[in-house]
Formats: sequence, structure tokens, C-alpha cells
Amino acid sequence: MSKFWSEAIQHLVPYVPGEQPKEQQIVKLNTNENPYPPSPLVMQTLQDFDLARLRLYPDPDARALKQALADYHGVTRDNVFVGNGSDEVLAHTFMAFFRQKAPLLMPNISYSFYDVYCNLYDIQYSEVPLQADFSICLDDYSQTNGGIIFANPNAPTGRTLELDEIERLLARNTESVVVVDEAYVDFGAQSAIALTQRYDNLLVVQTFSKSRSLAGLRIGFAIGHPDLIDGLERVKNSFNSYPLDMLAISAGVAAIEDEEYFRSTTDRIIATREWTCNELQALGFVVLPSCTNFVFAHHRYLEGAELMGYLRANGLLVRHFSRPLIDNHLRISIGTDAQMQRLIDTLTGHPDIIRLEA
Ligand SMILES: Cc1ncc(COP(=O)(O)O)c(C=O)c1O
Repeated sequence: MSKFWSEAIQHLVPYVPGEQPKEQQIVKLNTNENPYPPSPLVMQTLQDFDLARLRLYPDPDARALKQALADYHGVTRDNVFVGNGSDEVLAHTFMAFFRQKAPLLMPNISYSFYDVYCNLYDIQYSEVPLQADFSICLDDYSQTNGGIIFANPNAPTGRTLELDEIERLLARNTESVVVVDEAYVDFGAQSAIALTQRYDNLLVVQTFSKSRSLAGLRIGFAIGHPDLIDGLERVKNSFNSYPLDMLAISAGVAAIEDEEYFRSTTDRIIATREWTCNELQALGFVVLPSCTNFVFAHHRYLEGAELMGYLRANGLLVRHFSRPLIDNHLRISIGTDAQMQRLIDTLTGHPDIIRLEA
């Protein structure tokens, strides 16, 4: 607290990102990063980049990247917005669409940045409880609202909605913006992007941080009706004209071009995830079905916080949330096969964990 802080920031409760430890040898399974490097085409593009060009400002409209995304997703460039990570895209989305008289609706367990943005922009919101099995029931979002946001697949649960459930919501909720945050969609869920052509109030947000191994470059995007994109551009151009630098724009285009690498790494992560789920179950964990690059699990007898501490002491970092309803769970990002084997071996070595043989 400082006497120089404005009234507004005194009450902010900022988002706390997962730890980025200094020790290189720690196995990081706590922030849902991709365990594989970016595509070789991305690395070549960055190596070949003419650094002398950095004296210039980048294209404020990032047209090359928007065009690549438009072609890839079968839309036009005026359907695409890009930002410095999907966190920034989401921040602009809250500012542009959710400052309404009626409350924003969102799940009570979801990406914890959503309530931070509400706090920042003075947006009233109402949390809709998940079902007992941690799934989202969109029929519960029928109340008057100033917008709706949910992640699909949801975070940190990993559970997924079917497209027809989302379409049913859009058909009855036509007067406010519906945002689907698809940060993890490439790991086995269905994208709602095609629905943006039929519903002018749907905005789909995605990121290059997970499935395209580019968390460090900060690229996020949104797809929706040109009027929604225009609204986002107004906010962006009132805040920072150049959210994406030249390197990010070039590398982003290259990442989109390398479809084969994208498919092979996402397929590998999905296969490792399925192996990890089976192994965790054999060790007495209850694991939620996941269409993401992480699993959300709790042990039948042992406490989440204790297990997280045990793993940390053994060089493995996983995420634990001290929040009601989920404080016994661990969110474990999917790493390489070798990293997941180490996780399972370490858990097997816990004095109170007994392996149940099939
Ligand atoms: C559901 C969800 N949305 C958005 C993000 C933000 O991703 P980024 O800002 O790296 O694009 C994350 C990051 O973990 C996430 O879990």
C-alpha cells in the first residue's frame, strides 16, 4: 500500500500466475506449457529474422498474422483480432463488452483471471455453480445478463461442452455477448469458431501458448463478427497500438503454416495424457475426463496440498488451488513421456500410496 496509489488500485486483487522456478532441473507441470519446442519452421523464421528491421514499429494491425489465422479458420480478416497473449485479448473483451447494467455470468470454477478483470473494470458478475461432476450446465445461464463467459474446455477442470449445447445457449441468448475461451481446444475438443458465422454475439478466444508451444512469445486471438472485432480494436487502439511485436507476428504465421508439427505434437500430448490418467487411477486418484494438456485429479485418501508439497520436495511442480470445492485437487500439466513417468514413479514412492493392479 502506498499513499500514491489511486483509490481504484488499492482494492485490486491481482491474478497470481503459476511459479516459474529458477532451478532448471525442476519438472514443471504447473502452468500448462507445452513440453515440446515450437515448430522448426518457427525457429528458422526467428533465426532468419532481419534484426535491423527492429528499429521500425511493427504493423499495428498485424495483417500477416490475421490473414494466416483467417485462412486457417475459414473466415475473413475482419473476423480476427490479435493481442499480446489471450490474457490481453480477454482483458479487452471484458472492457469492450461486459461493462453493462446486468451482471456477467461465469462458472464458479473457471479461469481465475475472469474475476480479476471484473474487479479491474468494475464489472458486476454472478458465478453459476458447476454441477456436482464439475461440468458446466449451460441451461443454468438463462437469467438476465450483461454477457456470458466460460472456458471450453474449462480450466482447471478440463471438462468439455459439446457444440450443440453451446449453440442452444446462443439461440436463446441473443442480446449479450457470449465469449468462449478455447485456450485448450486443440487437445481434443470441438471449436465453436464455425458458429461465429451464424451468431453475431459469439466471440471465440484462442492462444498460441499451449498447442503451438509459444507461451513465451505472447500471441492470442479472437474470432467473431466484424462489429465485435471493431469493438476490440477500439479498446486496443486506446491502450497500445502495437501489442504484437515483429518477431511474434512472423513466428505466429510460421506456426500456423506448420500444420504437420502442430498435429504431431498435440497427438503426442493427447496420448501421454491418456497414459497418465490410467496410471494416476491405478495409484488411487480420481481423474476428471480431460480434453486439455492437463489433468485435474484428487487422491482418494491423501490431501492435495500435502501431495503438492511431496512432489515439490522431489523436484516436480504441479498446481494446487487453495479455493473451496477444489482445494483437494491437483492440476497436473502433461509433459513429455519421461516427465510423466517420473511423476508416476515419484507418486509410487509415496509411503501412503499403494498401486492397485488392474
Ligand atoms: C483458460 C485460459 N484462458 C486463457 C489463458 C491465457 O493464455 P495466454 O495469455 O498465454 O494466451 C490461460 C492460461 O493459462 C487459460 O488457462
